[in-house]
Amino acid sequence: MNSHVKYHTMAYTQTLATLLIFSLLPTFNAQGDELPKPTAIYLPILKNASTHQYYTRFDTQGVDALIDLGAESVWFDCTTYRSVVYKRVSCGSDQCKKAKDSLCIGCRWTPELECLNNTCGVYAYNPFKEYTKVQEFGEESLMVTSTDGKAIKYNHWVSKFLLSCAESTMVEGFPGDHTKGLVGLGRTQVSLHSQITSFFSLKPQFALCLPSSLSSETNPGAIIISGGPYYMPPSLEDQSYSLVRTPLTGDSNEYFIYLDDIEIDGQRVALSSSLLSGGAKISTVVPYTTLHASIYKRLIKDYVKAAALKNIKRVTNVEPFGACFDSMTVPKTITGPAVPDIDLVMPGNMVSVKMKLSGSNLMVEVKKDVICLAIIDGGAEPRTSIVLGGHQLEDRLLVFDLSTTILSFSPSLLLSNTSCSHSRVF
Ligand SMILES: *[C@@H]1O[C@H](CO)[C@@H](O)[C@H](O)[C@H]1NC(C)=O
Ligand SMILES: *[C@@H]1O[C@H](CO)[C@@H](O)[C@H](O)[C@H]1NC(C)=O
Ligand SMILES: *[C@@H]1O[C@H](CO)[C@@H](O)[C@H](O)[C@H]1NC(C)=O
Repeated sequence: MNSHVKYHTMAYTQTLATLLIFSLLPTFNAQGDELPKPTAIYLPILKNASTHQYYTRFDTQGVDALIDLGAESVWFDCTTYRSVVYKRVSCGSDQCKKAKDSLCIGCRWTPELECLNNTCGVYAYNPFKEYTKVQEFGEESLMVTSTDGKAIKYNHWVSKFLLSCAESTMVEGFPGDHTKGLVGLGRTQVSLHSQITSFFSLKPQFALCLPSSLSSETNPGAIIISGGPYYMPPSLEDQSYSLVRTPLTGDSNEYFIYLDDIEIDGQRVALSSSLLSGGAKISTVVPYTTLHASIYKRLIKDYVKAAALKNIKRVTNVEPFGACFDSMTVPKTITGPAVPDIDLVMPGNMVSVKMKLSGSNLMVEVKKDVICLAIIDGGAEPRTSIVLGGHQLEDRLLVFDLSTTILSFSPSLLLSNTSCSHSRVF
């Protein structure tokens, strides 16, 4: 078979697949009425329990994609997934300029059969391998699902969605066999939420509810793009009313919050203010909060003392953790083991606000009867002194408002007898 014929056979197979997808999922309902404009878009968040990675699922495309809060853009492994409507973006075009560090790439970069010299290239980043490589930028149609805050509603196409068509080596270290891409939720024009809110003319805002549950396959967490309400059944409350606000800071794609103090059971941990001055980065790719060595040492010392006051028995450390306890000496509560709380104190509107981390957000069970404080020593020269990781953010609603640059967060949902893990398909 010559390459010409081979290319046409491939294109034909892709056309069939795409036509099938388009015909199965109409933009009209059964009565033939046009679908109402969505007020919010829902995507599930699944957790790989063994690797502590969070990913979402685009059902129609059959692609799982890692969630990276700070990443600039979206990319899919093109050798696995590319539809017939995929179109390269040329360098210098308006679409290309939306990406921050775009450049022109030639044939040697493109993983495709045909070859164009003036293709727009954008950096894709693998956060686990800390590996960056220029990938071609293109437009694709993406199917998303609307929600009213309670249940999922309709499927909608987002046409001309900008994403990178990446080489398969980019997904190394991603969870499972099906995670073939990455969704960036950064403060950029080409991140997932920015493109979706701009396509549907929605408020530039998104909420994350990271699941802790091992059953996230059937009861996933959620990304809710644009506004609430935010219902977390079986609780009947709209969590919008439980949110407190703190400003977002930093000038990168990533999300930082100011941190005034860290408290353990209400007692301030003595830290020099210079150590806190850089604020705390929020990350969905770091599993456990990671601290500058000087913050970490002080925190562990105070934490162990506070635990002893509660008659909690310390046991030998289990790497990489620095404070482990005999779980038989810790009573159970609705928010997990009754260990000392850690409060993150941050500026609010006039008065300061606290993000309270309790039991299950603090402890990880490493073996039978042994739980450890799920916070890690980042060494003496980390890139960022404080990175809040996934385990500490689970089962809490986090709302990132890009128009006011404010983070709103709820108390632990466990206090309302609910969590981030539940089905929204009714
Ligand atoms: C791409 O540019 C190179 C170098 O200028 C040239 O040799 C090649 O023919 C060009 N390829 C195409 C497909 O235009
Ligand atoms: C989680 O990721 C690991 C490593 O990639 C993989 O072996 C495992 O199958 C994944 N689990 C699920 C449920 O996908
Ligand atoms: C949660 O459940 C506990 C025990 O069933 C109950 O005592 C408590 O009032 C409930 N809290 C809320 C906020 O519903």
